[in-house]
Amino acid sequence: MAVDNPASKSASARLDELTDLATPLGIRTVVTLRIPDQIAAGVHHLDDLAKSCDADPQALARLLRFLAHRGVFAEESPDEFSLTDIGELLCDRTAGGHGAYLDFDSLGSRTDLAFLALPQAIRTGEPSYAAVHGRDYWSDLDADPAMRAYFDELMRSQQRTTAPQVATLYPWQQVGSVTDVGGGSGGLLAELLVTHPHLRGTLVDRPQPVATAAERFAERGVADRAEVVAGDFFSPLPAGADVYVISRALTDWSDKHAAVILRRCAEAAGSSGRVLVVEVMPTEPYVPHLSPYDLIMLVSVGGRERGVDDFIALGAEAGLALTATYSGTGGLTLFEFQADRAAED
Ligand SMILES: C[S@@+](CC[C@H](N)C(=O)[O-])C[C@H]1O[C@@H](n2cnc3c(N)ncnc32)[C@H](O)[C@@H]1O
Repeated sequence: MAVDNPASKSASARLDELTDLATPLGIRTVVTLRIPDQIAAGVHHLDDLAKSCDADPQALARLLRFLAHRGVFAEESPDEFSLTDIGELLCDRTAGGHGAYLDFDSLGSRTDLAFLALPQAIRTGEPSYAAVHGRDYWSDLDADPAMRAYFDELMRSQQRTTAPQVATLYPWQQVGSVTDVGGGSGGLLAELLVTHPHLRGTLVDRPQPVATAAERFAERGVADRAEVVAGDFFSPLPAGADVYVISRALTDWSDKHAAVILRRCAEAAGSSGRVLVVEVMPTEPYVPHLSPYDLIMLVSVGGRERGVDDFIALGAEAGLALTATYSGTGGLTLFEFQADRAAED
């Protein structure tokens, strides 16, 4: 059997492969029509698959054969399709699963479609999501509770590995009160309050995640020590907590915006409080240049991946000096800042 050696292909053929839209959009189409789910449930014949999603059988056959050529399906006998190992991944509808991400009606596809206005993002350095979808990313989530719930669940699944580490890495025994700024649906704050029964907490975020967080605090038995505030981290934050945590939210913003958010935290923390930036530093393969993730942040929300020095520089921009760092697994890094007295003098 001939081996497909990319190096032996002409530059033109390689360019065609790099710019092909039929494959990524074709895969998203079969996911949206739930073809992989039907095959996994035992429906294999073209006519039955077409009936299941009200498709034109001939058009569907052309798409399935094209994707069979790309290794997504196998045509075991004429008009009988099965899933390859790639195709099986498309059935995963859990948060973070390929099926959930690639469905055209999902937040994942909406995020990727912001690339349609990439020239605008590159010219301006601003996100292109609104140019494609008519409103910015966060307003889109505000307007669609199901999409917001999916986003919160995705964050929660990531917090399952980070939150227990944040709860043990930092000396919370020395802290009385903590405010989680942009705390989402409350996974991290709940973990802190469960692990440290002396701690009181406040969570600030947009209205829907704040409501979900309140439910989570009740479920985990910490509602009597947790307050929720529907607010905006570009406006003054509730003052007086010992520690202001901002977890994995600065990556969503440009340097200019991220510095404003940090300044709001610094103002609320005052001279005695601390600001604790929690970030997952990009490790391979999710680093800029190797992965599209940094560009996804640009087109969707105008954010960017940053390294350690970038976070320290952002802190300085907001009048904060680094006082300690704590490292966990998988790139998890905690940056503790305090008001920069030298800068104040
Ligand atoms: C990437 S998520 C991180 C959530 C959580 N801190 C975590 O570590 O999983 C960023 C959060 O910032 C919130 N956010 C976005 N814009 C905001 C704003 N203007 N004011 C307050 N929160 C905002 C979002 O709703 C979202 O929950």
